[in-house]
Amino acid sequence: MNRKDLLGLYDLTTEEIEEILRLGLYFKTALKRGEKEHPALKGRSVVLLFYENSTRTRTSFELAAKFSGASVVNISVATSSVQKGETLVDTGKTLDAMKNDFIIIRHPMGGAPKLLAETVKAHVVNGGDGINEHPTQALLDMLTLKEHFGRIEGLKVAILGDIRHSRVAKSNLYGLTKLGAEVRLFAPKTLMPERLEREGAILCSSREEAVRGADAVMGLRIQLERQKGGNFPSLGEYAKYYGLDEQILSYAKKSALVLHPGPVNRGVELTSAVIDGKQSRIEDQVLSGLSVRMAVLSLLAGEEKV
Ligand code: NCD
Repeated sequence: MNRKDLLGLYDLTTEEIEEILRLGLYFKTALKRGEKEHPALKGRSVVLLFYENSTRTRTSFELAAKFSGASVVNISVATSSVQKGETLVDTGKTLDAMKNDFIIIRHPMGGAPKLLAETVKAHVVNGGDGINEHPTQALLDMLTLKEHFGRIEGLKVAILGDIRHSRVAKSNLYGLTKLGAEVRLFAPKTLMPERLEREGAILCSSREEAVRGADAVMGLRIQLERQKGGNFPSLGEYAKYYGLDEQILSYAKKSALVLHPGPVNRGVELTSAVIDGKQSRIEDQVLSGLSVRMAVLSLLAGEEKV
């Protein structure tokens, strides 16, 4: 892969996505064997700059960098100079002056990683920007599917939930369609951006329509922190009319997988029976995440080809 930054899947070519997935699968197989030492980033440094809450994405990037041999620094925005009014660009310049090699950024504003990437020498990786993109999440979802089915092409993937505020849904739509999957979206009308039809999505008018014959069903969290309210009557009604339970899941293929980026609100977007059921791959997604982030870091660093 010949680029400095990973900002989104919208810009990536099919070949680049395939290269990341190939290397991701290699790392995942190695991690399953207990091999956690890979020297691709030896002698380099990685800064995690998270302006938003995160458990799994942050931990996953941190472990990916450490397993790849890098020195890792975690900036806690709550106690950094950002609180004194420093701009993102100035924070980036400071990190550059320390000869830092990578910045992993999560930011509530769509486009923040791009702005940073344009002004720093370090490689920038988008760990989620507003409602725009979350490329490594979609790559890990794709790796989970690719490992299980042996392919992405021809798969039917249903994504249910708060599509409007979901950067995960958007990155998945761009990535999955590039690799030849069919992406069906279902959300309450107030949470369904119609422009996504132009990006190749099939907009469905019921859960059954989205899930029927699907190879994978992905649930999304309602992003209450990004909503002003009024998009649906209550969480209870959301679960009843828009969530995924075993009855709705029975419309999918028997072999279908259930995915969710986490954190899950049990009983809202998915019932506990679905989360803990046989078809759920939610835990496997976490290992895919670590693997795919190792792949992204080493490919951006210009190391490792498989
Ligand atoms: C997602 C995110 O932050 O965009 N979570 C994640 O990265 N695992 C989805 C979410 O917060 O619901």
